[in-house]
Amino acid sequence: MIELSNIWKRYSATEVLKGLNLKVEEGEFISIRGKSGAGKTTLLKIIGLLEQPDKGEVKISKKPVNNLSDDEKSSIRVHQIGFVFQFFNLIPSLTVLENIELPLALAGIDKNLRKKRATALLEYFGLEGFAERFPNTLSGGERQRIAIVRALANNPRIILADEPTSSLDDENSRLLMDLLKKVNRDRKVTIVLTTTDLYENLPTRIDYILKDGRLFER
Ligand SMILES: Nc1ncnc2c1ncn2[C@@H]1O[C@H](COP(=O)(O)OP(=O)(O)O)[C@@H](O)[C@H]1O
Ligand SMILES: [Mg+2]
Repeated sequence: MIELSNIWKRYSATEVLKGLNLKVEEGEFISIRGKSGAGKTTLLKIIGLLEQPDKGEVKISKKPVNNLSDDEKSSIRVHQIGFVFQFFNLIPSLTVLENIELPLALAGIDKNLRKKRATALLEYFGLEGFAERFPNTLSGGERQRIAIVRALANNPRIILADEPTSSLDDENSRLLMDLLKKVNRDRKVTIVLTTTDLYENLPTRIDYILKDGRLFER
């Protein structure tokens, strides 16, 4: 599903990724663990086609993506990849339902179908009670669960979750992990999750440590 070969990436003086390799099979759930500044977000941005590596090849669904046009990349992003960012990024002026409709709007789906799909998704996760609420009326854990539902709106094949539990307490972290586990199991979505916690037990099958610009199996 995802294949990175010999990826190098630097920001001015900082060499962040140094010949990194990663292969993620379809339906896999993996973690990338590393200290703050190790390059986890950079790596997710490269997988998510938001950053270009300086060197190395990226393949999504066996297709090399390095030389695609911006339009082609954004099409892959919209249709195949769902992002959950470290800091809640729900749009405050939109209701929960409208937030979930947003990626569907970007994909050009009409208003009625959008609403239907967003509602069905909330119901699937038992979160329909939040539909008409605004993000600032939700707890951090609720917001992050909604962010995952939104990431699923376009039925992506891949979810990239960047430290999704970093601002959550234990109970909310567990709820979020349960949600991701369900998404992975029921919908066969490939999930790549990052965390600064090197020891935490996660519902992942494979755990990597990102260190010195490369990945090591934990
Ligand atoms: N846009 C950028 N410009 C300059 N330096 C950056 C940029 N993005 C990240 N960095 C640097 O790259 C390193 C890795 O950052 P990041 O990928 O955000 O790490 P992590 O997510 O593991 O905390 C850090 O030293 C950070 O300061
Ligand atoms: Mg980060």
